[in-house]
This record gives sequence, structure tokens and C-alpha cells, in this order.
Amino acid sequence: MSAAFDRQRAFDQQRTFDQQRMFDQLWESLLPVGRDEQTGGYRRLAWTAADIACREWFVAAAEARDLTVETDGNANLWAWWGEPGPGSVAVGSHLDSVPDGGAFDGPLGVVSAFAALDVLRDRGVRPRRPLAVVAFADEEGGRFGVACVGSRLMTGALDPDRARELADADGITLAAAMADAGHDPGRLGRDDDRLGRLAAYVELHVEQGRGLADLDRPVGVGTGIWPHGRYRCTFEGRADHAGTTRLEDRADPMLTYAETVLAARKRARLAGARATFGRVHVEPNATNAIPSRVVGWLDLRAADEPGLEQLLADVRRGAQERAARDGTTVEVAVESQSPAVVFDAQLRDRMAGLLDAPTLATQAGHDAGVLATDVPTGMLFVRNRTGVSHSPLEHADPADCHAGVLALATVLEAELAVVPGNGGAG
Ligand code: HGY
Ligand code: MN
Ligand code: MN
Repeated sequence: MSAAFDRQRAFDQQRTFDQQRMFDQLWESLLPVGRDEQTGGYRRLAWTAADIACREWFVAAAEARDLTVETDGNANLWAWWGEPGPGSVAVGSHLDSVPDGGAFDGPLGVVSAFAALDVLRDRGVRPRRPLAVVAFADEEGGRFGVACVGSRLMTGALDPDRARELADADGITLAAAMADAGHDPGRLGRDDDRLGRLAAYVELHVEQGRGLADLDRPVGVGTGIWPHGRYRCTFEGRADHAGTTRLEDRADPMLTYAETVLAARKRARLAGARATFGRVHVEPNATNAIPSRVVGWLDLRAADEPGLEQLLADVRRGAQERAARDGTTVEVAVESQSPAVVFDAQLRDRMAGLLDAPTLATQAGHDAGVLATDVPTGMLFVRNRTGVSHSPLEHADPADCHAGVLALATVLEAELAVVPGNGGAG
């Protein structure tokens, strides 16, 4: 019995090792794409050469697994195991990044989805419903300003005409960028057929905080997402000479902007919320000229929607009061707003039970949050020991990534064991 036991253990160890190697190889094959040699960060902005190379990587990974690849009307990529049809389970994330982002935010979910599928095949699983690995287009909005473009178009949360007209800093529209890459922007819009096929969507993601590190657990199950807004704040004043113009004669929008940054931070702190100005544009942008215009992009997140609205109203009122004192003006335009998300309770409980994993909410936006209006969605988070994200320093340990793949495989195996029409794997 002991020899048989040892043989079985050696066999299991080899299988685990092989499965981990499949993940590692796939992960490493994506790592060079869009990486900046100077910073070590990633610049996979939507529809740039790096993003298109990521999309080609997806097709190659799918074809290597004999999956059927399709690009939907909103440019999201799907790789099917089984015939697409009702009761399908989708699993994935996104491949684009913020400017100088980390390697894990998005790609970990896509690579883990392929790796989990490999594990299921290795286990000899015969799915009773179709499985799709998906990579949603333009999740970060790092180029055109609106987040989760592919999933929002799919659910109708983003109007296709508005999407087509979104422009990057060089004035290139989303429609033109897509068309250049060979995708017809005329096909954008809500995709009822595809949504109707999906019984569930599961997204694995690197955690973007220290929740799991604090709990000392490698994998957690998402409960929901804080509501989130992105606002373009335009401060206008009067350009003038930095030397000859007396301070009291100036109409300096940089001052109003700076006071607004500090005030937003203080209000967010008092409200237990988050406020960030992470992007700014200055005109004429000269050291010896008082600016005529400053545009700052404000990212606000709060635990609930009334809290977010209150925070926005407070920041806006404070900026206007300050502008009146500075002789400047301020306009606040909404670029995108994402409501609070509560993930599907049954799917969440099934996952937490199967994995014996802790549950946690997140302040970061995800395609799973967008899809939640139409499809039961759930998320798995993989520990990030420092919590750093949207930075080249973003990291998850290989052992935690492997644990994430196994957790995802366990969840998918249970979901795929259910005949379509019979609800979840309860
Ligand atoms: O910005 C976000 O919350 C996400 O990481 N896209
Ligand atoms: Mn992100
Ligand atoms: Mn992400």
C-alpha cells in the first residue's frame, strides 16, 4: 500500500508541476508585449500596437488549445470550448493596461482562464455546458478616457455613437483606431444574443489592495465593487507673464486646481472615500507663463452611491467657491460613472464554499461589475502582498498565481457540471 501510495503521490506532484509549468509558460509568453524597458511598466493602451499584439497572443493561445475564436461586434475576444450556446460560462478579464501599468492587472485573469481550462482537460473534465475564455476590449480607458468600453458596449451601458466619438490626446477617435486595426466600428452596441447565452461570468484578478495579505490568504472571493466616477474638471483663467504680473492681478487656474486637489483629498478622507487627480493638462504649459487653462481628471470612489454623489457635490461646490475668489472658472464634466455592484450572491456563496475562501469587496472597477446588470457574475482575487497596482511594482507571487488557477479550475469544474437550464452548481 505504501508503494502504491508513493507512486500516486509522485504522479500527483508531477501533474501539479506540469500544470504550473503550463501557466508559467503562457504567462512568460505575454510578459514582453508592451513592456517599457526603462520603467518595467506596461503600455498596452487600447488599439495601440502593444494592445493589438496582446490580442494576437490571445488568438494564438486559443488556437494552440483548439478553441474556436471569435471577435464580437464590440471587439471583445472569445475562445470557445464547446459550441457557443445557451447556458455558457465565461471566464476571463482584459489585456490592456493603464500607462506604465503592472503585468498582472487584467492579464492574470486571462492567462489563468486558459491555464484553468488546461487543468480541467488534464483532469479529464467533460463540460456539460460551453466554456468561453474572454478578453474584454479597452477595460482601463487609458487612451480614450472611458473605462470598460468593451463590456459597457456589450450591455448597452455605453452608447455606441458616444463611444465612436471618444478621442485620445492626439484627437484620434476610437472609431478610427478600431477601424485601423481592422474592426468595423459600425458593429458596436448592445449584444442581446451574446448576453442571453451567458449563464455566468467569472473574473479572476490580482487584488489591488492588501485585503488578502492582511488576512494571510492567497485567494479570495469578491462581494462587490464600490461605485466610481471619472470627471473632467476644466479650470479657465488668463495667461500672463510670470514675472511682470502682480500676484493680486492674476487669474491663475493652476491655483484653483491646486486648491481643489487638496480639498478633494480632505473631503474624501473625512468621508472614508477616495479622491485622486492622476492626470493633468496645462495650457500653454510654459515655465514663465501663468496658465490660461488647466484640465484635471478626477477619479472618485465611495462605499455607496449617495456617498459618491455627496463627495462630487462637495468637491464641485468647493472648486466653484475657490474659482470665484481666484477670478477663474471651473466646469466639471462626467466622463464615466459606474454604479455600486453587488456580485451574484449564489455564485459568490458557491465559490466561497468550494474554496473555503474569505470574501472581500473592492474599490477597483472590472468588466465583471459591468456585466453584473445582465449576467450572474463573480470574482476571485489573488493576493498582492504590497497591494500596489497600476504601477510597474504590481506583483503577485507565483505560488499565489498557481493557487488562483487551481481555485478557478475548481469553480469552473463545478459550474460546468451543471446541465444548462438547471441554474448554478448549488
Ligand atoms: O480603475 C480601475 O478601477 C480598474 O483598475 N480599471
Ligand atoms: Mn486596472
Ligand atoms: Mn483590471
